[in-house]
Amino acid sequence: MIVVAGSANIDLVAQVSHHLEPGETLIASGYAVHQGGKGANQAVAAARLGAPVRFIGAAGDDDFGDRIVADLAAEGIDADGVQRFRGSSGLALITVDDGGENQIVVVPGANGQLDASRDLAGAMGGATALLVQLETPPAFVNAALAAGRAAGAEVILNAAPASPLKAFDTAAVDWLMVNTGEAAFLLGETEGKTRNQTADQAERLAAQYDVGVIVTLGADGALWIARDGSQGHVPGRECTVVDTTGAGDTFAGAFAAARAEGQSVEDAIRMAGVAASLSVGAAGARAGMPDRAAVRAAMND
Ligand code: RIB
Repeated sequence: MIVVAGSANIDLVAQVSHHLEPGETLIASGYAVHQGGKGANQAVAAARLGAPVRFIGAAGDDDFGDRIVADLAAEGIDADGVQRFRGSSGLALITVDDGGENQIVVVPGANGQLDASRDLAGAMGGATALLVQLETPPAFVNAALAAGRAAGAEVILNAAPASPLKAFDTAAVDWLMVNTGEAAFLLGETEGKTRNQTADQAERLAAQYDVGVIVTLGADGALWIARDGSQGHVPGRECTVVDTTGAGDTFAGAFAAARAEGQSVEDAIRMAGVAASLSVGAAGARAGMPDRAAVRAAMND
């Protein structure tokens, strides 16, 4: 069982020719409402690959909240751990430009009400992997990390959106998963311009936090350094980019799914990269997330 503790949002997405400058007004060429939220997206990515998934999070008592819960259940995810709060569900205001790149403003809504009072230890029953992100309050993140560690699950912290880690219990983390921008942010440095520079940043993050580190590199794939010092790189896969929203979530969910079924770190990263490359081919965080058959087909290409 994979347990995902994190945010669930409704994504309000405008398609734009380019991203806004301060003070600029743009006319969008299209608009769509999608399911989103880093936590819920990662849960869906893992479930589509056939993993049993339990999601722990929050939704408002609005129509969006009903849709969040119904959609998770429709994906075969155990959504009994979605707590309903009075008020609005989490929202993400997203623009996607012609190159498929996004800008996102997150309104936490119900996600912001999550705290350490949840029975997270109880929610870990049967968990082999736990996935957590930084889109919910630190008290909730830390309670989840501690419960995952106590349950003996492989604990994966996707440090997104980028936030300083000093508020978080990194001692409970096995794998820190970041993109190049997040890796640089955590070190207070500029983004690595080459794979070697990013590998060096990953090595220093691994030493600083005593964790394994996985860095996604966009079109260049992903690199990792494990706690035992072993490291490697898996190349990217050529793909058509319509919308990169949710690519990192697809990678995280697919990695957890692969690890939960016993794949090696390298194989899990390879499968996660293929899943992420497929996910960017459709508009919306989840529309392009592949099922197992699609991943298998792409891996045999
Ligand atoms: O990672 C993509 C997600 O970030 C979107 O679905 C949006 O909801 C924000 O949480």
